[in-house]
Amino acid sequence: MKVYLDNSATTYPKPEEVYSSVYNYMKNIGSNPGRGGYSSALEGDRIIFSCREALMKIFNFDKLENIIFTANITHSLNILLKSVVKDGWHIITSSMEHNSVLRPLSNLKETKNIDLDIIECSENGVLNIEDFKNTLKSNTKLVVLTHASNIIGSIQPLKHIGKICKERGIYFVIDSAQSAGAIPVDFYEIGCNALAFTGHKSLLGPQGIGGFLIDDNLNQEALSFIEGGTGSLSESITQPNFLPDKFESGTLNAPGIAGLLAGINYITEEGLISIQERERELCQHFIDGLLNIPSIKVYGATEASLRTPTISINSNKINNAELGFVLDRDYGIMARTGLHCAPLAHRTIKTFPEGTLRFSLGPFNDIKDIDYTLHCLNLIIKGCD
Ligand code: ALA
Repeated sequence: MKVYLDNSATTYPKPEEVYSSVYNYMKNIGSNPGRGGYSSALEGDRIIFSCREALMKIFNFDKLENIIFTANITHSLNILLKSVVKDGWHIITSSMEHNSVLRPLSNLKETKNIDLDIIECSENGVLNIEDFKNTLKSNTKLVVLTHASNIIGSIQPLKHIGKICKERGIYFVIDSAQSAGAIPVDFYEIGCNALAFTGHKSLLGPQGIGGFLIDDNLNQEALSFIEGGTGSLSESITQPNFLPDKFESGTLNAPGIAGLLAGINYITEEGLISIQERERELCQHFIDGLLNIPSIKVYGATEASLRTPTISINSNKINNAELGFVLDRDYGIMARTGLHCAPLAHRTIKTFPEGTLRFSLGPFNDIKDIDYTLHCLNLIIKGCD
């Protein structure tokens, strides 16, 4: 039996329509959208337009041209941070961030005259609003937060933070890598200025496609980041200043966008809330089972309603790297071990430097996967006695 429980790294399998859409684009369309006026180029344009529309709906956003495609969310976050930050800014982020936020911010700290505060979250991985308020300064210009932790699925109180940012004229940027497609993500309800997304996780698209949504306020602050061909204003040697072309230089990943569109359509047809509820039930069942296995510690909230289905554990009988290895080798269970590119989050949950064994559920897991994994964990742990 094979059980894939690494959906926080990338969802697998994908809906059948995702595979067929990528294949169909490559085999039957094949054009470079925005670069030609012939029928297959226009067909490519229509798919890209439809994907922007689907993203608009799923994030409750209303500006089609303010949706930018990139290769992945790391590219999106680098663009959003490095194209806007100016000398003299005070920036706030949290200890639950992935390196895709922490490394660009560390680089900016080296290269610009900025002041960076990384707020320590609770051991359950949640940012305290009072701590946030106490960290604000008169020159705070930017707050960058992940929506959900990639280690323990903790969900940040984004709406509260967004309200405070709005009142004080602070830009608010969201990393939705672990939330988009898994839980409702509403651009305006959060009150952010930009939201970075990845296509290949809970939006169920292929790897190599991501993007961001940006409002006009933050866009005015931002410079273009990668310049080049856009298929527009080709007479000019300077980058167009309008969206999305300002940030979309070079050939887009059109097959990836076709796959992402199919992934989002699948979520819309199944219902995001019904996918979320099913995953939540499985997650609760899994956590309850884990809590019954002697020697296993589960990190973060034990109520599935307070988290996304990303569950980190350790056992004091066997280290997480070995446990993950044995699960794969002997039982076909795939889960990720170590620090998950989020070293500060592991310090927060007190698992640095050894990390955790992380299980992350996706829409194609079922109760049999969970019961089998619990059974195998029980066997391995008993075998350590
Ligand atoms: N960021 C991805 C993870 O958490 C790759 O595994």
